[in-house]
Amino acid sequence: MITTGCDRRGPDGEQVDPREKIVIKFSHVVAEDTPKGQAARRFARLVEERTGGRVEVQVFPNSVLYKDGEELDALQKGAVQIIAPTTSKLSSLAPQWQLLDLPYLFENEEQVHKALDGELGKKLFATLEPYNIYPLAFWDNGFKQITNSKRPVVHPEDFKGLTFRVMINSKVLEEQFHSLGADTIQMPFSDVYDALSKGQVDGQENTVSNIYSQRFYETQPYLTVSNHGYMGYVVLINKKFWFSLPSDIRKVIEETMAEVTLWEREQAAKLNRKNFEKIKSSGEVKIHIQTPSERDEWQAVFAHLYQQFRSVIGNELIEEALRTKR
Ligand code: LMR
Repeated sequence: MITTGCDRRGPDGEQVDPREKIVIKFSHVVAEDTPKGQAARRFARLVEERTGGRVEVQVFPNSVLYKDGEELDALQKGAVQIIAPTTSKLSSLAPQWQLLDLPYLFENEEQVHKALDGELGKKLFATLEPYNIYPLAFWDNGFKQITNSKRPVVHPEDFKGLTFRVMINSKVLEEQFHSLGADTIQMPFSDVYDALSKGQVDGQENTVSNIYSQRFYETQPYLTVSNHGYMGYVVLINKKFWFSLPSDIRKVIEETMAEVTLWEREQAAKLNRKNFEKIKSSGEVKIHIQTPSERDEWQAVFAHLYQQFRSVIGNELIEEALRTKR
């Protein structure tokens, strides 16, 4: 086929008027005033500006279009073009992503970025090849903390008999709580506030910015700052759609995404700090900061998970992650 510079094809090979506006629907599940919410809006504004309005990015926050458990399917079918789920939620497609759910895998954001921006990130991206999904970036949310309505959780035995909400699709997260003697219920993010306020679950794990923006802390008087696991996002675009875009548009999107990613990571750290102060000053929450010896106790309980999930996640990925830390 002979094509000219003006010949543009849609995702299904159909001829498209090159002057036609390109609409990108970006769907996500969190509030606007969160790292992901703010970064999605910034990305939308910059892409529109930089393409002179040729591309319009419509952002749909708060699960208004699709919930967890629905958005991956919507992306693959092309009902939306971009989503940015927490990595744990990709485990339904590629169980290797549960690597990032292993407790205490990383100690700080520097280690996370070094791993995800390097070989480990490439290997994880490669697992998505067969699924009509093209990965654009890793965004931060932050390290997870534990909240609950019943009692301070300081030592592993304090978890016994409590029920925790866990994100959908991750067996590692379920086992993490089971090894502490707690029960779990998998639940989409949009259902968590209700479940906590009705007492259907006693607690949950999340980043401070989610705990604050979803007002979880209002029904959760106990917060343990444990930093026991990392929660981050992978920004994904529908692959057929991506390769149907003119290359100059792809270039703008890629460059803008790289720039917004750096901004988003700074923003995530800032918001977690700022929202922590707000939760503290609300006076509604008893906060316990985990000590190094308590961390050792939790880590000892979790150690077996690395063995238990080695065959599911793959030795190579676990070793790669541990190597990045050294
Ligand atoms: C959760 O389900 O708790 C989080 O993954 C929500 C999010 O996207 O930050």
